Amino acid sequence: MTKSVEEVRSEIPFLKTGIIYLDNAATTPTPRPVIDAMLEYFQEYNANIGRGLHRSAKRATEEFEAARGKIAETIGAKPGEIAYTKNATEALNMVANGLNLKKGDKVIATILEHHSNLVPWQRLERTRGIELEVVREAPDCVIDPAAIEDAVDDRTRLITMPHVSNALGTIQPVREVGEIAEEHDVLFSIDAAQAVGHMPIDVSEINCDFLAAPGHKGLMGPQGTGFLYVREDRQEELEPLLLGGGIVQTVTEHKCGLVEPPQVFDAGTPNIPGIIGLGKAAEYVLEIGLEEIEKREQKLTQEMLKISEIDSIEVYGPKNPEDRGGVVSFNLSGMDPHEASSILDEVANIATRSGHHCAMPVMSHLGIDGTVRASIHYYNTEDEVEKFVKTIKDITQELTD
Ligand code: ALA
Repeated sequence: MTKSVEEVRSEIPFLKTGIIYLDNAATTPTPRPVIDAMLEYFQEYNANIGRGLHRSAKRATEEFEAARGKIAETIGAKPGEIAYTKNATEALNMVANGLNLKKGDKVIATILEHHSNLVPWQRLERTRGIELEVVREAPDCVIDPAAIEDAVDDRTRLITMPHVSNALGTIQPVREVGEIAEEHDVLFSIDAAQAVGHMPIDVSEINCDFLAAPGHKGLMGPQGTGFLYVREDRQEELEPLLLGGGIVQTVTEHKCGLVEPPQVFDAGTPNIPGIIGLGKAAEYVLEIGLEEIEKREQKLTQEMLKISEIDSIEVYGPKNPEDRGGVVSFNLSGMDPHEASSILDEVANIATRSGHHCAMPVMSHLGIDGTVRASIHYYNTEDEVEKFVKTIKDITQELTD
């Protein structure tokens, strides 16, 4: 079962504005069934979860909990392994702050990290005295697993890396690194912000302990939602980021007993409508089919990569669409990326992102200040990509005339 591109497009209200939206790596427009699921919550059972015994409270709790199952299905996990967060950043901070890392412990990250998977570890360098080693070996913008293995020593507690580079779109060798982590008995945490919802993922095959993702990108859910996969046998090792109401069994003046994971990660009133919307969104992408999404994104990416044939364009990373997510990052020689992105918007109503994409270390590594980034999802069309390629050709033509 799948949903046609036309059907999906007809269900995304934002597309009716006529925009050619190629900024899906930043956030993806929300489909009508997801909006409706949230409206239904507000209109029919607008109650808190896990507290009241009235029917609306029970329904809110049931729908909130049911979303874990749908999200889990998108990555081959169990519902109980899904902790809700407000975004991937919060999920990555949960890993950094929740593990009992001590002075002298080593964490290995990569030059490709989004700031959200680097800055939290930098804080642990300052506050707890951990050592953060950043692996830079990345030929063609793909991390060399051998360099990660070389960095592992007997102090290494955790390896972390992106599944797909948010800035460049290159798919990273997470399976190989998962094997290295297993062999050396170190934890493995993945920033899968640009992978979940865009391709089939099976956490047991990757052999990761933690995997972070937002709800509002590949999964087509609302902003302000995300999750952290915490492997069942690692849940006791991860302290919740927040403590408070809703996650305690007993509290005396100086002690408390907490509920079990994953609910132990839900302190305070969570984003109930958002999570219910995210559950619906996960169901929606599963209905399209993750293989279908991946196949279509590869096809459209191949078309987008036609810009690499233009002399004055540099595209970063491999030119084989199977080695990339649906993200193409590039520069036009002689033009600032912000200017190029603004022209695409103004002359052709094409939305892209420009700049460092919250990944300044990899930009410095490449010797650039930023790129223009075009990123797609299943619903984008061949015509849109064709118009993008043509507009880039026109801009470069004007530069050389
Ligand atoms: N992290 C998002 C991006 O890469 C916002 O654009």
